[in-house]
Amino acid sequence: DGEVYKYYSDGEWKKSSSNKSVAIINPTTRKTQYKVQACSQEEVNKVMEIAKAAQKSWAKTPLWKRAELLHKAAAILKEHKAPIAECLVKEIAKPAKDAVTEVVRSGDLVSYCAEEGVRILGEGKFLVSDSFPGNERTKYCLTSKIPLGVVLAIPPFNYPVNLAVSKIAPALIAGNSLVLKPPTQGAVSCLHMVHCFHLAGFPKGLISCVTGKGSEIGDFLTMHPGVNCISFTGGDTGISISKKAGMIPLQMELGGKDACIVLEDADLDLVAANIIKGGFSYSGQRCTAVKVVLVIESVADALVEKVKARVAKLSVGPPEDDSDITPVVSESSANFIEGLVLDAKEKGATFCQPYKREGNLIWPLLLDNVRPDMRIAWEEPFGPVLPVIRISSVEEGIHHCNASNFGLQGCVFTRDINKAILISDAMETGTVQINSAPARGPDHFPFQGIKDSGIGSQGITNSINMMTKVKSTVINLP
Ligand code: G3P
Repeated sequence: DGEVYKYYSDGEWKKSSSNKSVAIINPTTRKTQYKVQACSQEEVNKVMEIAKAAQKSWAKTPLWKRAELLHKAAAILKEHKAPIAECLVKEIAKPAKDAVTEVVRSGDLVSYCAEEGVRILGEGKFLVSDSFPGNERTKYCLTSKIPLGVVLAIPPFNYPVNLAVSKIAPALIAGNSLVLKPPTQGAVSCLHMVHCFHLAGFPKGLISCVTGKGSEIGDFLTMHPGVNCISFTGGDTGISISKKAGMIPLQMELGGKDACIVLEDADLDLVAANIIKGGFSYSGQRCTAVKVVLVIESVADALVEKVKARVAKLSVGPPEDDSDITPVVSESSANFIEGLVLDAKEKGATFCQPYKREGNLIWPLLLDNVRPDMRIAWEEPFGPVLPVIRISSVEEGIHHCNASNFGLQGCVFTRDINKAILISDAMETGTVQINSAPARGPDHFPFQGIKDSGIGSQGITNSINMMTKVKSTVINLP
């Protein structure tokens, strides 16, 4: 009690001179679990200054050495999976096994990034001038990829470790320095993860981690003139960040309303299994969760029955017990979800299970016969509540999907691959999965949202490229 986790700057753990802290509420107990420093704007200024200086010599550090340090950090991260996972359980109520998986996946991501980085950054281009009309072969152009400078990484609460390293590792391998602003819930997990990078022996100041209140340092960080790139994952805060940010590259992954379109010929057991995994894992708190099922009327009854039977088998309880459904991240989140449920009730949705809530714990709920006038047809609950809309044609399903302001992923279930591809082409989303639930991974796959779901493409290779700029030198021959 009273202990406040320190923030990380200049290779050291520090107390904020503000003498203020931010409390992290455990979603299960709803009591303060940890406290972190509430950093001040002056401390952010200092971190930016140090990050800028550290980046200069890091950019000159050989690529293979940068990779070596990342491999070391990856191994240390995996060794520390148990204590980090424990924090994830306490801070964000992630089921115990999933919490360990998140850390292991993060270690793998860091190693892969190091390997990919040495390959793609180890190559440049050589161009000759006489391919363009009017030119002789008198100009040779050499291009390479150089770092952007200081990258600001802002991960969300649902994958505080994994979505932090998916920004940190590409930034570092590409020769950038990194300032991390963790989400409040997930901040201690992030500090532990940063400690693994510290143990790996990265140069001082190359990585910093500032904690604090969004109201105090949020805009200050994202609008800071020392920032050369922002990689953000989260909600619609990303839209306001992109409006306020300067002329710097932005990588944003925001919300989603991923649709699951089910055709008449689909394997309904496969669909039901994927709806459970896609809709209810981590209690629906994933941007790639299945957030609306659009099923052809003729198979709707059968599908709903199969999903209902599987929902009944989901365990509900604390994350320490590795329950399938755990408390959602905060009371305000639970209240928001409840608002969507009550709206659907008032407008006549069919409740496949009774609505039940205790504190932040919401029992899994499937809502059948949802109609477009209900909020849940369009808004993302970020909770274990899944609407089913019955459709009379595939076109109706595609139309619903494309009418959304989101465009992250979607999925289609059918045995007819030709139809599936045509539907994929028609869906205005960054990715369409055929016969499986939406998912970001494997982490080297491209991952992108369109419309309000984001800007740019992630995935290891794309993130490395995004965190570099092209530099060319032209040799002019006499
Ligand atoms: O919610 C964040 C998003 O990146 C989801 O990742 O691995 O659950 O598909 P994943």
